[in-house]
Amino acid sequence: MTVPSFQPLQGMSDLASPEVHLWQEVEEAARRLLALYQVEEVRTPILEPTGLFVRSLGEGTDVVQKEMYTFEDRGGRSVSLRPEGTAGVIRYLAGLGPEAAGARLYYLGPMFRAERPQAGRRRQFHQLGVELIGPPGPAQDVEAIALQQHLLNAWGLKAARIEINSRGLPAEQAAVSEGLRKALEPHEPRLCDDCRRRLKANVLRVLDCKQEGCRAVAETLPAVTDFMGADSRAYLDEVRRLLDLLELPAVINPRLVRGLDYYQHTIWEIRHPALGAQDALAGGGRYRIEWEGAAIEGVGFAAGLERIVTAVQHDRPASAESARGKPATWIVSQGAKALEQNLVLAQLLRQRGIACGLALDGRSVKAQMRAANRSGAAFAVIRGELEMEKGLFVLKSMKDGAQEELELPALVERLLRASRAEGT
Ligand code: HAM
Repeated sequence: MTVPSFQPLQGMSDLASPEVHLWQEVEEAARRLLALYQVEEVRTPILEPTGLFVRSLGEGTDVVQKEMYTFEDRGGRSVSLRPEGTAGVIRYLAGLGPEAAGARLYYLGPMFRAERPQAGRRRQFHQLGVELIGPPGPAQDVEAIALQQHLLNAWGLKAARIEINSRGLPAEQAAVSEGLRKALEPHEPRLCDDCRRRLKANVLRVLDCKQEGCRAVAETLPAVTDFMGADSRAYLDEVRRLLDLLELPAVINPRLVRGLDYYQHTIWEIRHPALGAQDALAGGGRYRIEWEGAAIEGVGFAAGLERIVTAVQHDRPASAESARGKPATWIVSQGAKALEQNLVLAQLLRQRGIACGLALDGRSVKAQMRAANRSGAAFAVIRGELEMEKGLFVLKSMKDGAQEELELPALVERLLRASRAEGT
């Protein structure tokens, strides 16, 4: 099937009104909240050297193996569209040297993964990510989880659930894989073809499989922490103790794994029942990434904004409509002369902070009143030859039709008062 040329590429979307208003609301709520935690914005490039992602996310991960948009730039160097935001932030911080210690950064922007498109899985999607650098330890992990929970509350997502687990340390990975492989072997016939292959190549991914049979087998497995050392288990216990202290409603999922290699110790994921199979709203954890000789440790997470907006629409069905900004006033012109003068009036009102709209195409007064109605404006300001001669403006309430004639200063005062009361 040929795709009509006005469609975006598969797995990518145009984002416009009315949905975009909800996106803006979600983003603004996040920015306000991040300021309370003293987390500052960073904007890193969308295109990075391919090696940055291979080395930080891990050569064998699905993202690196199958999902990156990689090509050669004009200099013959391999570059990739960023599939996630952590690696770029760490590259930036590694360049700062000792100044990077204690950095608290967030980013908001598009990420790209060439995944098989399906509900909830986009090829271009957007993340709000947070990275807190040093001091390492359970307290910082819990601060990041608390921030994550606060964001969910600010977005009004009551049904979202935080699940946490440990990834242990790199030196423990071989023992974890071996332990899981042994536990899985007796169940091999019940696993899907992919998971039978994963048994040998990447056994942790069996715990992630969405197939019914594999999920049932995964339920019977020991916790991954059973194969880790006492220090890693104590670290997770301390995280749990602090979560309780802050009364954060996170639950331990003993079989939670994350698909990126840079994690160690605490990992978490946020699920939401409205999202179906792709139910992860956000994910994160503690990590250690080396770049150009600098090793940076931090803890962070990223929320998928498409999924956040879907969940907000589910939990707060009226949210898109209420997020949409409405002009407070619609200016109606009777005749060409009035139209010209109303263009001046609109500019004056907007400069005073009053949102207003007007039609510039000379359509009839009736058609202009219809447009005023459709726009949801609270008032119409009507002006024709007669009003211009008298130096007056007719202010009409769109709610009850009441009309009055005002001079300019009184008109501005009335509209300012009304827009302050409405918070527009
Ligand atoms: P991630 O789990 O790969 O982690 O992605 C985080 C979130 O991005 C997911 O929970 C999901 O909501 C969203 N997401 C991922 N892929 C897609 C997709 N194809 N379509 C729509 N949404 C998607 C990371 O990216 C890590 N960098 C998070 C992190 C930051 N860890 C530490 N710091």
